[in-house]
Amino acid sequence: MRQIYMDNSSTSFPKAPDLGKVMGEHIDQLGLNLGRGGYSPAIHLEQIAVETKEKLCDFFNGPHSRNVIFTSGATAGLNMVINGLLSPGDRVVTTCLEHNAVARPLHALSTYGVQNIRWERLPAEPDGNLDVDAFNKLLTTDTKMLLVTHASNVSGSLVPLCSLAKICKERNIFFVADAAQTAGSQPIDMKGLGLDGLVVAGHKGLLGPQGIGAMILTDRLASQMRPTVLGGTGSKSDLLDMPEYLPDRFEPGTLNIPGIVGLNHALDFLASQGLQAIRSHKDALARTFLEGLSVIHGVQSFGQAADVPRESVFSLVFKNMDQAEAAFRLERDFGILTRSGLHCAPLAHQTLGTFPGGSVRFSFGCFTTVADVDAALSAIAKIAKS
Ligand SMILES: Cc1ncc(COP(=O)(O)O)c(C=O)c1O
Repeated sequence: MRQIYMDNSSTSFPKAPDLGKVMGEHIDQLGLNLGRGGYSPAIHLEQIAVETKEKLCDFFNGPHSRNVIFTSGATAGLNMVINGLLSPGDRVVTTCLEHNAVARPLHALSTYGVQNIRWERLPAEPDGNLDVDAFNKLLTTDTKMLLVTHASNVSGSLVPLCSLAKICKERNIFFVADAAQTAGSQPIDMKGLGLDGLVVAGHKGLLGPQGIGAMILTDRLASQMRPTVLGGTGSKSDLLDMPEYLPDRFEPGTLNIPGIVGLNHALDFLASQGLQAIRSHKDALARTFLEGLSVIHGVQSFGQAADVPRESVFSLVFKNMDQAEAAFRLERDFGILTRSGLHCAPLAHQTLGTFPGGSVRFSFGCFTTVADVDAALSAIAKIAKS
């Protein structure tokens, strides 16, 4: 039976062609450190890291390549922003669709009380549409940051960054987006939107390996953030304080250099395909999937319609069975790999009305084909009828 991977929201697969080969060659032939020794191979690696940052900066129209900080993934970047920026008495606003990478650090800060941080959430309709007007009502003079997921990893709904950015600018509030689900899939223009921070994972839509991600900060945001992980940077080694300048301030310790090499390679592949072509392909898949679902009984789908811009992530609830059972049968009988449960986003499930039972999530990647989507629709129809 042909295996059909439909869990690209978790991590993309396949990755950029030859990713393993490129990373393997790097480890075998040049697996040294950078930013430490002054010998030429180390300097060469430093150049690869800077080049990767330049590519990320161009891709997201960030402020400057030195403002790109490598992280181990989106979770690490989000924790660095949350714990590095917020101080006692601050208020922070998110959506009610956030992943636990945002929700758990904020819950810890706001609930355990040590820091007296207030966390408010923008409400959304069950289809994932945010009530942007509610943002104005939640704002106070101590609102420090708006931190929003760009797309829900449960419903695929897109958060309207543009309208929120306008309000943040007027009110002088830091605006940060969690683009774990959209980087490499939706156009993101940091400068155009006026984003102060953007957090991305390298292993999802960017088609790179696990263990590498990035956080891009404006100088304004970076200057207000404390580093939360401290250590050696290979620079200013006479000081016990972290260097003040970027990226060193937020990049202590040995970096994931094989991951950087892999991400560099994956960014080249993405550039060769073109983001617009990837987007059009995924939009076409989304239309096919949602049209097909509309005539299948016994299964409910959540999130926005296909004619509204969305991410190709879909949550389904099979009415006649447990969602884990449906996912099990999708794999056993049809070779279709999905994810069932709460997808690390209980708040989003509460919003959509799929808590605590969860959903079966189908998420398409740039290598998903129309034949894959047709096979999924046929499998869903059979399972829903049984
Ligand atoms: C919206 C969102 N934010 C953050 C994360 C965490 O990403 P990572 O696992 O790369 O740390 C995910 C992962 O699925 C996500 O979907």
